[in-house]
Amino acid sequence: MHFSSSLLFAATAVGIAQAQGATPSGFTPAAKTQLDVIFNSTSVDTPGKLLSKAATAAEPQLALPKSAVSSSDTYVFVMLDLDVPGQGNNATRRVLLHAMNTGFKATQQTVSGGAVLLASSEKGPASYIGPGPPATDTIPHRYTQLLFKQPSSLKVSASDFANTKARIGFDINSFAKTNGLGEPIAGNFFMVDGRASAAGGAATGTRGAGGARQTGTGGSGNSSTPGR
Ligand SMILES: *[C@@H]1O[C@H](CO)[C@@H](O)[C@H](O)[C@H]1NC(C)=O
Ligand SMILES: *[C@@H]1O[C@H](CO)[C@@H](O)[C@H](O)[C@H]1NC(C)=O
Ligand SMILES: *[C@@H]1O[C@H](CO)[C@@H](O)[C@H](O)[C@H]1NC(C)=O
Repeated sequence: MHFSSSLLFAATAVGIAQAQGATPSGFTPAAKTQLDVIFNSTSVDTPGKLLSKAATAAEPQLALPKSAVSSSDTYVFVMLDLDVPGQGNNATRRVLLHAMNTGFKATQQTVSGGAVLLASSEKGPASYIGPGPPATDTIPHRYTQLLFKQPSSLKVSASDFANTKARIGFDINSFAKTNGLGEPIAGNFFMVDGRASAAGGAATGTRGAGGARQTGTGGSGNSSTPGR
């Protein structure tokens, strides 16, 4: 696995914000324990940190505090955009499922804060979509990460998430209930601001490790890729 020293360095300041919770205020299911979310060039050391599209284009690595990890458990990772613009005149923002990855297990590796690196050979069932909040939007989006213990009974397949329609409006509470996920073991979130004027926004990079990223067209219309 690719694991650079800059990545180790980036993960140092982890675990600070546990007292306030690691997921956005008001979001459920809330997580108290901070999940280490480690991108190649940076990490989400403080929940709510503002990152660029380019820095978050490829799927992050994950690590759990030693006290939260169990070597016998398997985990499922979920990432949601909580701030997809509503459709047409509907101002209610929607949720987009950016990733659901099953099969995470503890590795023998720790990151420099002491957390245990997790790894999965599975890329789905919902492969990672890099953040792409619309340049026309009025707010940065909150990208929320959750890690659940994966029940052995969990039945999900890539065909469940084959198109955007299956990802937009994703209801994690209902999914967790239906599939017996329980409460999240850990969570985190970062922000990406799509506006060109925003620091760390669209202007800082047009291509990430994952290749070209589409810029959203805003909240109106029926784009097949809603502003994510
Ligand atoms: C960034 O990290 C991802 C996932 O860990 C990896 O697949 C990719 O090759 C990395 N890209 C660079 C430029 O190091
Ligand atoms: C507005 O959008 C929200 C979120 O998608 C939805 O729950 C609600 O039913 C919509 N309202 C109308 C009037 O369409
Ligand atoms: C957008 O899609 C909704 C339902 O998905 C439909 O009711 C509406 O007419 C569509 N609007 C446009 C402009 O195509």
